[in-house]
Amino acid sequence: MHEGHISERDLQLPHVEFPEISRRIALDKKIISLGPGEPDFPTPKPLIDYGKKMLPKATHYSEPQGMIELREAIVKKLYKENNIDVTPDNVIVTCGSQEAIFSALLAALDPTEQVLVPSPGYAGYVPAIDLVSATPVFVPLSRENSFELNSDVLKRHIDKQKSKVLILNSPANPTGNVMSKKLMEEIADVAIDNDMLIFSDEAYEHILYDGAKHVSIGSLNGMEDHVLTFHTFSKSYAMCGFRLGYCTGPKKFIHEMNKDHHYITLGAPTISQMIGVKALTLDKKYINSMVSEYKRRCDLIVPRLNEIGLPTLQPKGAFYTFSDITQYSKDSSKFSFELMEKAKVATIPGTEFGPYGQGYIRCSFATAYDKIETALDKMEAFLKNK
Ligand SMILES: Cc1ncc(COP(=O)(O)O)c(C=O)c1O
Repeated sequence: MHEGHISERDLQLPHVEFPEISRRIALDKKIISLGPGEPDFPTPKPLIDYGKKMLPKATHYSEPQGMIELREAIVKKLYKENNIDVTPDNVIVTCGSQEAIFSALLAALDPTEQVLVPSPGYAGYVPAIDLVSATPVFVPLSRENSFELNSDVLKRHIDKQKSKVLILNSPANPTGNVMSKKLMEEIADVAIDNDMLIFSDEAYEHILYDGAKHVSIGSLNGMEDHVLTFHTFSKSYAMCGFRLGYCTGPKKFIHEMNKDHHYITLGAPTISQMIGVKALTLDKKYINSMVSEYKRRCDLIVPRLNEIGLPTLQPKGAFYTFSDITQYSKDSSKFSFELMEKAKVATIPGTEFGPYGQGYIRCSFATAYDKIETALDKMEAFLKNK
């Protein structure tokens, strides 16, 4: 059978284990999944009820940049919660933040230009950078330094001519690190000195523990023209399936990005945008109750992982643990697949988060408490026989 021509660009995309892990989870019902990065909670009921009511009115395209009602609501939220003062022209509504990041990379980069990507970091960045024919440059993060970005290490990875974008993600997937305002000020100076645009991915802005505070780097003095800020409804409102996110930044850039977004998607789903307007006025008790349940699970999983010989830092935000497996194996992928085959517990190999994730596995605690308990017992038994 003729399978058609496949582009070199596609053939060169990095090999990822995630699809194979998902396939095995779907096939083998005995596997407990600590794999996916998706809230296990349903979307809050008032949002579902509102969506049902609005569905007949949602059958048309919206304005590609996003419905004005939603962009106005986002402007208010950005001012109140992120200390970012913009107009609806500075906002674009997208199909999740993944599409926003892709459209922004398309608008910002010429082929071969470089994007600085802290590693371990979210697995969605590198393929998107590859797809726009730009080059990722990994900036190492280490557990000794709490997976915090170090500005001197960052400077050593900058190429004055080629480095155009720096991606930050706080609270961070997979490490749970939350950047302090002081560190952001330092990084902001490095970005300005090197004429780089910062992409600030704030997908987990509301998922914070033990008094950790979220700061948007775009709110710092003088950063308005240097930062694109990415937010999503996926995590805060358990709305992953609605594919709704947004990006704010300099008006001229958002205007350019809107062209890419328009040609790729024609706009985010109208029903999702309508629900998004409602979500932004939803009582905060819905987010708070999800976060307190994540915290309860976090307090279960972190001490147990440490006890069973997988050194793990306490996450300050997001809903993942990132554990050192080197006492048992040097190969994250092999370890993770063996754990899935023998103990029936699915985790994500650290190497999915870039080369500096080698020697680690990620567990998601966006999974029911009792499932996490059982998974930990199975992991303990597996490690005893290693
Ligand atoms: C750090 C980070 N950014 C962006 C995304 C993409 O989320 P969405 O496209 O659903 O907004 C994810 C999803 O897991 C993520 O973890």
